Amino acid sequence: MADIHSPSGRFHLHHQRRRVVGTLSYHQILVVVLWASLFACIFVWQRSAVNVLRVYRRGPPPQAPMLRPVVFNLTDFGGVGDGVTLNTMAFERAVEAISKFSERGGGQLNVQRGVWLTAPFNLTSHMTLFLAEGAVILGIEDEKYWPLMPPLPSYGYGREKKGPRYGSLIHGQYLKDVVITGHNGTIDGQGEMWWSKFREKLLKHTRGPLVQIMWSRDIVISNITLRNPPFWTLHPYDCKNVTISNVTILAPVHNAPNTDGIDPDSCEDMVIENCYIHVGDDGIAIKSGWDQYGIAYGRPSTNILIRNVVLRTVVSAGVSIGSEMSGGISNITLENIHVWDSRRGVRIKTAPGRGGYVRDISYRNLTFDNLSLGIVVKTDYNEHPDDGFDPEAIPCVENISFHGIYGRDVRIPVRIQGSEEIPLRGVSFRDMTVGVTKKKKRLFQCAHVFGRAIGKIFPAPCENLDHYDEQGRLVRRSTSQNSTLIDYD
Ligand SMILES: *[C@@H]1O[C@H](CO)[C@@H](O)[C@H](O)[C@H]1NC(C)=O
Ligand SMILES: *[C@@H]1O[C@H](CO)[C@@H](O)[C@H](O)[C@H]1NC(C)=O
Ligand SMILES: *[C@@H]1O[C@H](CO)[C@@H](O)[C@H](O)[C@H]1NC(C)=O
Ligand SMILES: *[C@@H]1O[C@H](CO)[C@@H](O)[C@H](O)[C@H]1NC(C)=O
Ligand SMILES: *[C@@H]1O[C@H](CO)[C@@H](O)[C@H](O)[C@H]1NC(C)=O
Ligand SMILES: *[C@@H]1O[C@H](CO)[C@@H](O)[C@H](O)[C@H]1NC(C)=O
Ligand SMILES: *[C@@H]1O[C@H](CO)[C@@H](O)[C@H](O)[C@H]1NC(C)=O
Ligand SMILES: *[C@@H]1O[C@H](CO)[C@@H](O)[C@H](O)[C@H]1NC(C)=O
Ligand SMILES: *[C@@H]1O[C@H](CO)[C@@H](O)[C@H](O)[C@H]1NC(C)=O
Ligand SMILES: *[C@@H]1O[C@H](CO)[C@@H](O)[C@H](O)[C@H]1NC(C)=O
Ligand SMILES: *[C@@H]1O[C@H](CO)[C@@H](O)[C@H](O)[C@H]1NC(C)=O
Repeated sequence: MADIHSPSGRFHLHHQRRRVVGTLSYHQILVVVLWASLFACIFVWQRSAVNVLRVYRRGPPPQAPMLRPVVFNLTDFGGVGDGVTLNTMAFERAVEAISKFSERGGGQLNVQRGVWLTAPFNLTSHMTLFLAEGAVILGIEDEKYWPLMPPLPSYGYGREKKGPRYGSLIHGQYLKDVVITGHNGTIDGQGEMWWSKFREKLLKHTRGPLVQIMWSRDIVISNITLRNPPFWTLHPYDCKNVTISNVTILAPVHNAPNTDGIDPDSCEDMVIENCYIHVGDDGIAIKSGWDQYGIAYGRPSTNILIRNVVLRTVVSAGVSIGSEMSGGISNITLENIHVWDSRRGVRIKTAPGRGGYVRDISYRNLTFDNLSLGIVVKTDYNEHPDDGFDPEAIPCVENISFHGIYGRDVRIPVRIQGSEEIPLRGVSFRDMTVGVTKKKKRLFQCAHVFGRAIGKIFPAPCENLDHYDEQGRLVRRSTSQNSTLIDYD
């Protein structure tokens, strides 16, 4: 069909007829009309066949539910979902219109099926952004459209470069009651341009996240897909009461630098559940500021529950805590976490100079499938914003429990490395069975670790831990808590 339709084909045909038929131009017209109607018939038939198939397979696309007292469509504000037209103004006008309803329950913006190209825009309070099935919000691939913003106060620094940083594609500050949801529509940052410019060192400023909500509360992000962020994907910063549920996050696992999935940063009361994350850096990374800037800002990440999440990353870890943790990180529960075909399962990372603490962390029911390392604690992650950090600011790492660790094909199930300066206290393991790829000498590596191993633990726990049986009776007290049997082979 495409071949017959091609202009050169038609020209060829036309040319031949003119030579044969000569001056009989009515004949010529007839032929053209006949061909045209034939094409029209085929075209209409094909389209209806496709439509019939679509209806047969999926039924009609579901209508957007009405989640706020007033509902707008992006098209009401001049939006065009053709993948080419820039919709920044339409989004801005929609947000402006919705902000007028903040006293009356807020407003909902439906983004219908289509591809909606846009530059970054800001959200407003009491707003629901609803992405229909087949709706794609596409970030423009030109950094001059991305506004510059001051660095985050707890980082003091653009993170990659000094000075200002690019804002996020979808951004919000000082908001209350914001929902981003839908029927699995997509927000796509077209990160490729940013990743290659970053690699070629062509960017003057730190790349922006895909979605960043700052100093806000009562945020729900659910039932959507986020893909190809320029930098981190979803970054709630100094927020309270955030729920992230049923979200799919996708970036290439190779050559997509710093594309973390979700970075709860100085956040309190947060749930992340039922998510699938497949990215080029940490799947989830809980943070709270960097060295002297994070200590001065002093906002911890606390009361965070992460459950039923499947993750993959070949560069970093499924779920990380740190390395920026200078405001403190506490009361984190992670359960039913599955990490597959990845470099590391879960990791805590810090260094002298960070200050702060990581405490009351509970990991339950972790499944590791084909990893290089399962559980990792690293206390010499020496990456600092500048020379102004205080090397005497020693972080405290304590009360970390691992309960129910399963899996197979893991090269080194455990490497928890404290140091003379940063000992790991109150570490406990209960019920662990992790199959290993090959019999290495050290499968459960520890340094400066204080704590206990309870019940059945495979591979056999390190010497540093006191051993208890299933009933909680002491079997053997450790005499070498400071032993440092780490093996980087
Ligand atoms: C929005 O678009 C849908 C179809 O996608 C239509 O049914 C609805 O009436 C529109 N709503 C408004 C407020 O224009
Ligand atoms: C969003 O709001 C922030 C804070 O007011 C501002 O710095 C930024 O430029 C705004 N972004 C856009 C795209 O208007
Ligand atoms: C949502 O879309 C993503 C990307 O197309 C897909 O991988 C995922 O399975 C979808 N989620 C649901 C619940 O349909
Ligand atoms: C948290 O946010 C949700 C969604 O906006 C809201 O329903 C709930 O009341 C909030 N919880 C608290 C304790 O503020
Ligand atoms: C998310 O999708 C599920 C079904 O997949 C549905 O039950 C739920 O209501 C949706 N949430 C929203 C906010 O639309
Ligand atoms: C997530 O999906 C489940 C099942 O499809 C649904 O019950 C739940 O309401 C959804 N969560 C949200 C916050 O939409
Ligand atoms: C710890 O966090 C959970 C939420 O994951 C919360 O329910 C609980 O109250 C918090 N505990 C304390 C002591 O704050
Ligand atoms: C443990 O987590 C896996 C998913 O990673 C889940 O299938 C399984 O049901 C969980 N087990 C329990 C006892 O909750
Ligand atoms: C294990 O994961 C690595 C890294 O993603 C992958 O290259 C390899 O194919 C996986 N092995 C198996 C047996 O699936
Ligand atoms: C250890 O942390 C858990 C939560 O992760 C908490 O319930 C418990 O009270 C803490 N124990 C100590 C001794 O601080
Ligand atoms: C282990 O090192 C700590 C300092 O990190 C020290 O206080 C303690 O006495 C040492 N314990 C043993 C058993 O050597």
